[in-house]
Amino acid sequence: MSFDWPETFVQILPESWASEPLEELALNYDTVENHGWYSNLDYTVEEIVGYVRKGDILIDYSGGTGILAKRLLDRFGSKDVGIIIVDSSPKFLRLALEKFKDERRMAFRHIRFIREERRLERLDEVLGDELLSRGVDGIVSTNAIHLYFDLSETLQAWKSVLRPWGRVFIQSGNIKNPDSPYDEWIIDETVEVIHSKAMEIVREDDAFKRYRDRLNDADYMSQHEALRRKYFLPVKPLEHYLDRLRSEGFDITAVQHQRIAARVDEWYEFLSVYHEGVLGWVGGAEKITGATASDDVIKDRLNLMRLAMDKVFGGAFEFGASWTYITCEPRS
Ligand SMILES: C[S@@+](CC[C@H](N)C(=O)[O-])C[C@H]1O[C@@H](n2cnc3c(N)ncnc32)[C@H](O)[C@@H]1O
Repeated sequence: MSFDWPETFVQILPESWASEPLEELALNYDTVENHGWYSNLDYTVEEIVGYVRKGDILIDYSGGTGILAKRLLDRFGSKDVGIIIVDSSPKFLRLALEKFKDERRMAFRHIRFIREERRLERLDEVLGDELLSRGVDGIVSTNAIHLYFDLSETLQAWKSVLRPWGRVFIQSGNIKNPDSPYDEWIIDETVEVIHSKAMEIVREDDAFKRYRDRLNDADYMSQHEALRRKYFLPVKPLEHYLDRLRSEGFDITAVQHQRIAARVDEWYEFLSVYHEGVLGWVGGAEKITGATASDDVIKDRLNLMRLAMDKVFGGAFEFGASWTYITCEPRS
């Protein structure tokens, strides 16, 4: 049996995002595919490969630029499984479409932000009637659940589209897991420590003395702290996610922890794209001051970030990051 979408299901809807040009932010993000720390997807891939059967349909919720989908398709081989990438970012989705536009096993859905209701569209609002009545066999969310400001509503929608025997695979490096060894990092928490180390360097190293006075401007620094926390959200504990899953009608079937090796130079490469979020106080973030940072300021931010990272990680080549994997099923 080969894989077929439901008869009336449209893989690519004629929406404006699908014909936009490719965008730099998405192309930049996509380079993480080649980073060693993106081995965080390996465990999820193995879990899903062991679970799916020919003809199944999976939702890659927050599938972004399609890094997981590519790895899954490569591993499925002749096992025909359909994957629908659902994402709130039209730019990321556009890049995913570029990669898979001729792949009959792939489909795409943009969940829009509905301004009047101040909420994102729900998964059940974008799949179409025929697929809703069939239901989906699995939902996967990688590196994203910590970003859901509407977690309960998101989980309710997942439950409503999942077949009764379906399964949910969640993973993130930004969940505080009591099982993590003391020497592993929550990956986004490195940012706060890099920021503190950078302040120390600015105080001591005359190469950065032009930024020193601002360190004593409490209002300026607290505005930049708020901006940093928008880019890198405060990390919530594992129990928070398990509680929500249980209260939205899921049974937790497994919680796993993995140590993921992250190369310092690759983590630097990733963070350098978000230099305004990490070290925006160096020269002032445009989102706060309204002024675009000069090339010299950006160069200083990047140099400082690299120096701070070398100090934070003691000059090491890599550090251990803690990833958490949650598997669950809808309660019958
Ligand atoms: C860090 S990326 C992860 C992308 C991909 N799953 C991966 O592992 O590479 C986070 C993704 O979550 C999406 N996202 C952010 N907030 C979201 C929300 N509230 N609901 C659904 N998706 C969201 C982003 O657009 C982005 O594609």
